[in-house]
Amino acid sequence: MSARSDAALRLGSITKVYGEGEAAVTAVRDASLVVTPGQFVIVMGPSGSGKTTLLSICGALLRPTAGQVWVGGTDITALTERELPGLRLRRMGFVFQNFNLLANLTARENVRIVIEANGVRRSAADARARELLGQLRMTHRLDALPDQLSGGERQRVAIARALANDPPLILADEPTGNLDSKTGYQAMHMLELLAKEHGKTVIAVTHDHRVQDVADLMLWLEDGVLSERPPEEAELARDPVCGMVINALRAAGRRERDGEPLSFCSEICLERFDREAARYPSPE
Ligand SMILES: Nc1ncnc2c1ncn2[C@@H]1O[C@H](COP(=O)(O)OP(=O)(O)OP(=O)(O)O)[C@@H](O)[C@H]1O
Ligand SMILES: [Mg+2]
Repeated sequence: MSARSDAALRLGSITKVYGEGEAAVTAVRDASLVVTPGQFVIVMGPSGSGKTTLLSICGALLRPTAGQVWVGGTDITALTERELPGLRLRRMGFVFQNFNLLANLTARENVRIVIEANGVRRSAADARARELLGQLRMTHRLDALPDQLSGGERQRVAIARALANDPPLILADEPTGNLDSKTGYQAMHMLELLAKEHGKTVIAVTHDHRVQDVADLMLWLEDGVLSERPPEEAELARDPVCGMVINALRAAGRRERDGEPLSFCSEICLERFDREAARYPSPE
């Protein structure tokens, strides 16, 4: 039991099947995992491999078909629907790819309402929202609406919102997917600091291979099967068109340029490359 309560997150044989009968899709197969507090964990894997499904199960946004999930010692799969919103509000912070900010609320209000939802009075919630946005260098944009902000600024509002109630667990699903490479890397770096300097447990889905170097644990998902590193036979490569990290041995297509092999995630990226190769520099 002690390992269970020491873990920030623990998955016990999680399986998720969407739909039934012939239409059934097994998105996650028998995944087990222990994440300790303060770890910065990244999840990589091809499109459709089950990353969002797994993250949603960790965040109690989706129930597994089988298996158990413990968050800080609580078996969240045993909780009722009514207990889940409170758990999410206090124990978890979410950062989604499209940031999910409320369009008609300012940066400050987007953060404040999450704090107020946790029972804090408006004035105190407002002060906390300002402080958090200030820490993320957003003081000058407190009263801007999301569509008046740049992608990187929206990202910072989303991170401030995820931190609003000081949750121990931060879950981020491709938080850099809509950002240019430099801004995206800065966002991942911010998540890394949350783990390293503030002791948060961070689990982030990313395709940015540079993040591997700073992660404490790298998880690889392929066809719903979770492993703690790419399978031994995997050969990681970056698709020069979309930037995704893929297993080159299962690439949808290959090309060679200046004697260097290139791998592509899909026919779409391959076609784009064939049409306009010069647009896509080789990945570092
Ligand atoms: N609500 C759903 N109903 C049925 N099938 C689903 C549903 N959501 C996801 N799936 C399927 O489950 C599998 C895993 O999907 P998931 O979204 O978890 O993949 P992913 O790794 O996040 O992909 P991506 O990198 O494209 O975001 C896919 O085959 C997908 O089509
Ligand atoms: Mg996804």
